[in-house]
Amino acid sequence: MLAPQVLVALGIASALALVRGRQTTVAPKAKFVPLHPTASTSSLQLTLVLPPTNIDGLHTALYDVSDPKSANYRKHLSKAEVEAFVAPKPESVQAVTAWLAQHNIHPEVVSPSGDMLRIDVPVSTANALLAANFTDFKDKDSGTILTRTLSVSIPDDVEQHLQYIYPTTQFVPPLQPNHPPFKVVTPTPGNPTSKRQGFDICSVDVVPQCLEDYYHIPTAPGTASGNSIAVAGYLNEIASEDDLEIFFLAWRPDVTTTPEFNVVSIDGGVTSGDGTLEASLDIQYTVGVATGVPTTLYSVGNPFAQGFIDIVNYLLGLDELPLVLTTSYGFNETDFQGSEDFANTFCNAYAQLGARGTSIFFASGDNGPYSFSFDSECDGTTFGPSFPSGCPFLTSVGATTGYDSGTEVVADFSGGGFSNIFPQPSYQSTAVENYLDALGSTNEGLFNRSGRAYPDVSAQGINYVTRINGTFFLVLGTSASTPVWASVVALLNDALLNAGKPPLGFINPLLYSEGIAALNDVTSGINTGCGALGFPALAGWDAATGLGTPDYDKLLALVTSL
Ligand SMILES: *[C@@H]1O[C@H](CO)[C@@H](O)[C@H](O)[C@H]1NC(C)=O
Ligand SMILES: *[C@@H]1O[C@H](CO)[C@@H](O)[C@H](O)[C@H]1NC(C)=O
Ligand SMILES: *[C@@H]1O[C@H](CO)[C@@H](O)[C@H](O)[C@H]1NC(C)=O
Ligand SMILES: *[C@@H]1O[C@H](CO)[C@@H](O)[C@H](O)[C@H]1NC(C)=O
Repeated sequence: MLAPQVLVALGIASALALVRGRQTTVAPKAKFVPLHPTASTSSLQLTLVLPPTNIDGLHTALYDVSDPKSANYRKHLSKAEVEAFVAPKPESVQAVTAWLAQHNIHPEVVSPSGDMLRIDVPVSTANALLAANFTDFKDKDSGTILTRTLSVSIPDDVEQHLQYIYPTTQFVPPLQPNHPPFKVVTPTPGNPTSKRQGFDICSVDVVPQCLEDYYHIPTAPGTASGNSIAVAGYLNEIASEDDLEIFFLAWRPDVTTTPEFNVVSIDGGVTSGDGTLEASLDIQYTVGVATGVPTTLYSVGNPFAQGFIDIVNYLLGLDELPLVLTTSYGFNETDFQGSEDFANTFCNAYAQLGARGTSIFFASGDNGPYSFSFDSECDGTTFGPSFPSGCPFLTSVGATTGYDSGTEVVADFSGGGFSNIFPQPSYQSTAVENYLDALGSTNEGLFNRSGRAYPDVSAQGINYVTRINGTFFLVLGTSASTPVWASVVALLNDALLNAGKPPLGFINPLLYSEGIAALNDVTSGINTGCGALGFPALAGWDAATGLGTPDYDKLLALVTSL
């Protein structure tokens, strides 16, 4: 076999590398325009992902501790037990490190189980190592430059020991500040700083008290030791204690001392500054609803998909995990098609957290059946699901509105649909089958009937009063609904911990079975995206509001009875 270096020198790498080892080639979307080969001296940070020893074992163990009918329900796994499933085999570590050593490269282990190795190399070395041609591509939508290659080759003796290397052929744009999961921001009438006499704020806006009323969420602060919420923050978003304090004065007058929240920086994320929209919303509707539950904003500096992995690796390294993780950011799933191994890394990361007892919430998207973008060039031939809501090991949260009129309806932007990457998990098959039957031929051909269907649940999503850098604004989006579910589960955990019981962990198998009766079914409205109608809300699960919105009292009665 010719050495890859020689092939590159001959300029025929892609033609001959097929002969030996494993070659991956991709044809990215036309919006990625090649500019020029990346400078050979630029430095490239690559993550090498090794195959897990027993990923099916992890999935089985996760379902075993999450199924209310199982004898092992909520007997969550230890750090070491989870790591044993995902750790690479010693021969894989040996093969990969020996291959790198031949090129004088010495990797750093960057995940607690050892399944991820990181190397920092000049582009010339990466090109030689992988028979690659790293090129700077411009994403026409966002203007971001991605350094990627259309082809990588892994030698024969290493291929079975290496799943993939990132970033190489994965054309996933970074999180977009201009397409956040919130839509309209307007100052509230009168810029309220306290409850106005004789005015029912809940008839027009949402503040914590409205959510407490609608969903029977207790006002008493959480008290259990060991309870916690993690809020994932990206794009240098930050919340301020000053804004939180005024928010509490206005909307939680029953709480005398405003709780503090913690900030942890990952990948160099900011830890202080003027409050910004998403982080202020997320902190005010966790700390302001699950008051008393210790809450930490994990501020992740890396806006690329790697940032989503880095926060999980950070958390998996802790002996005591946060019991709830809420994330109001996401990607377009179509960008992960062709990089399914990469997509699975995220989903397996959430499976690891779930197996250890963390409940994970993601916003379902704010463009109905079209993920997160508001002005995307939707081609109308297929819907575009959001990511990672299609992963079966997390709880995806959609949005509703209109409680004051007595009935909640779909908030039209509420993200929902069917994954093209992740198959439908059995816990939701009956619920989804009933929906597909009722749906008939509506949207036929636009979505994947066998895919994992989302969202799982929903909550109010419009006109959240939020204090941002000294001013009250109204915010809408599944971004608003998601921290509410995180708070509900955190308060349920509080009650469980105080009763000496284990926390809820991965809740979907519970929600889709006994849990249905503890939710408010949302049965009217339809989500829309790109100017087209999406999925209607119907009795039972639907692809606009999932199983429905929470009823804390009923959920508490259910979880304490198990
Ligand atoms: C490498 O990519 C550049 C574009 O950046 C292209 O012009 C060149 O032909 C490619 N070289 C090989 C050997 O494929
Ligand atoms: C999703 O794709 C659309 C169309 O390419 C784009 O406008 C939008 O920014 C993308 N959204 C995200 C979150 O990447
Ligand atoms: C539909 O989803 C399944 C996973 O459930 C996937 O294997 C298949 O490729 C998807 N089909 C399309 C057309 O994307
Ligand atoms: C916050 O408000 C101050 C004062 O109004 C202003 O100077 C500053 O630029 C604002 N910060 C952000 C991030 O908008």
